[in-house]
Amino acid sequence: PINVVVVISGSGSNLQALIDQAAAININITGVISNIASAYGLTRAAQANIPTQVVDHTQFSDRTTFDTALMAAIDSYQPDLVVLAGFMRILTPTFTKHYTGRMLNIHPSLLPKYRGLHTHKRALEAGDKEHGATVHFVTEELDGGPNVIQAIVPVAGSDTEASLMEKVQQKEHKIYPQAVAWFAEGNLKMEHNKAFLLGEMLPPTGKR
Ligand code: GAR
Repeated sequence: PINVVVVISGSGSNLQALIDQAAAININITGVISNIASAYGLTRAAQANIPTQVVDHTQFSDRTTFDTALMAAIDSYQPDLVVLAGFMRILTPTFTKHYTGRMLNIHPSLLPKYRGLHTHKRALEAGDKEHGATVHFVTEELDGGPNVIQAIVPVAGSDTEASLMEKVQQKEHKIYPQAVAWFAEGNLKMEHNKAFLLGEMLPPTGKR
């Protein structure tokens, strides 16, 4: 199995999906790191006997010193792959460069639509018929690295921010383990800012 470090800020439902499928997708989650000490995902990790660390961004004077500490914490678990799963801090270029081609993120929208925050609200307000989630490689560009896989959620007239979030997260719990499985198999790579699955360039909209 490959070593995977998961970085979180909150509930960790995506972390849980990876914990539940770790054996099936041949990964060893060697550490979980949170910038928030009260994140429920830390409890999930502890219940699965995975070592955890908190790197609290409020204890650092700037992004660079925080990112340096975060990198040291991550690297102490010798990851082959870093998985951002609901991690809510912006990363410096030094950080993202250190993990080029070996760091994935999941974002709750059909990227390139709605980078940043409040994605469900923005999709509703725009009257979108389709919403969803995207797994992508992390580059310097915020929520802008090459897409790996997307899941589509149809938007119903009755949907609220909360109901959309719930539907999107159900899909996330399927596509994130899938993307990590591809990486663990050696079938998913990033080169020259493009994602490749089995040597084939993935389309900008990801693979559905
Ligand atoms: C997920 O929906 C993820 O897409 C989103 O946070 C949620 C975390 O849920 N990520 C972002 O908004 C990143 N900017 P979880 O902690 O239950 O996995």
